[in-house]
Amino acid sequence: MVILRLPFAVLAVLVAALMPPSAVAQLRTDYYAKICPKLETIIRSSVKQSMAQSQISGPAVLRLFFHDCAVRGCDASILIVNSNGDDEWRNSDNQSLKPEGFQTIMNAKAAVDSDPQCKYNVSCADILALAAREAVYQSGGPNYPVELGRYDGRLSTKDSVVLPHANFNLDQLNAYFSGLGFTQNEMIALSGGHTLGAADCPFFQYRIGTDPTMNSAFADDLRKTCNSNPTNGFAFFDYSPVGFDNAYFQLLQGGRGLLGSDQVLYSDPRSRNTVNAYAANQAAFFADFMNAMTKLGRVGVKTAATGEIRRDCRFPN
Ligand code: HEM
Repeated sequence: MVILRLPFAVLAVLVAALMPPSAVAQLRTDYYAKICPKLETIIRSSVKQSMAQSQISGPAVLRLFFHDCAVRGCDASILIVNSNGDDEWRNSDNQSLKPEGFQTIMNAKAAVDSDPQCKYNVSCADILALAAREAVYQSGGPNYPVELGRYDGRLSTKDSVVLPHANFNLDQLNAYFSGLGFTQNEMIALSGGHTLGAADCPFFQYRIGTDPTMNSAFADDLRKTCNSNPTNGFAFFDYSPVGFDNAYFQLLQGGRGLLGSDQVLYSDPRSRNTVNAYAANQAAFFADFMNAMTKLGRVGVKTAATGEIRRDCRFPN
């Protein structure tokens, strides 16, 4: 057998050539160049407006994109509203998603559909991917190219939601993210998304006074915050919650990570070097974050055969 003598790399290329084109292969940055040429400008200005209306919009959209992609892939299934009440956003792990994130996508979709050339031609999944980039870029983060050409899913159920939890240790985080195809480094870069926004007290309150990795002055501040507002207390992940920067990693070095899953990235010696590298070098964090976001955008992408272009992001056609 001649083929067995071929080097592995050559064999892999041959096998790949024989396989049907994968869903990822359809993604291109210029996918809408002819279909909806003004798409990126339309979304840029719509998201800008939403972010000006509410500072919660940017962080909320970035988180929404992660919660969409991590469950059934990047197919906008998180936006579906089922009349029987069984859908992803009603799962308890999604109850803390902020309405401003959903509203930003609805506004962007309306803006896209107000252009006759674009109307009903752009998937909600792609609008969400572009809006997430805008949330990052317009907060001072990198303006990375977004691959497009995703189709929208038709299914959304509560039971399909499996997301990482705030008390996860490094092994649990790695297990979760490797299931989506990410390395530890990529998981840490993506966790840097916590440079934006805030978390409610129930997600970190249990650490106050019990977690030795939490800075004691920080613990005192958080205790005051949560005690003075038992129902709606929250804290920002870093001191620049609407600025996309590497402050999140610098705070981890001082024991000022809000969630257990944040602080463990520094406390565990197996991931500390990466945190130190991102804390010292914002450009390195931005570069790795862009790549990891691009990879996140490829998770479970639907094709014309397995999805559709939803007319209303809330309801399958
Ligand atoms: C590593 C595992 C992760 C865990 C355990 C986690 C958990 C959480 C929790 C508990 C909150 C607070 C929610 C609230 O109180 O409203 C939160 C907020 C947030 N997460 Fe994550 N997350 C993770 C990864 C990610 C990733 C990969 C991204 C995006 C790249 C992301 C983006 C955000 C953003 C932007 C917020 C702030 C949302 C807001 O202010 O409305 N998270 N996350």
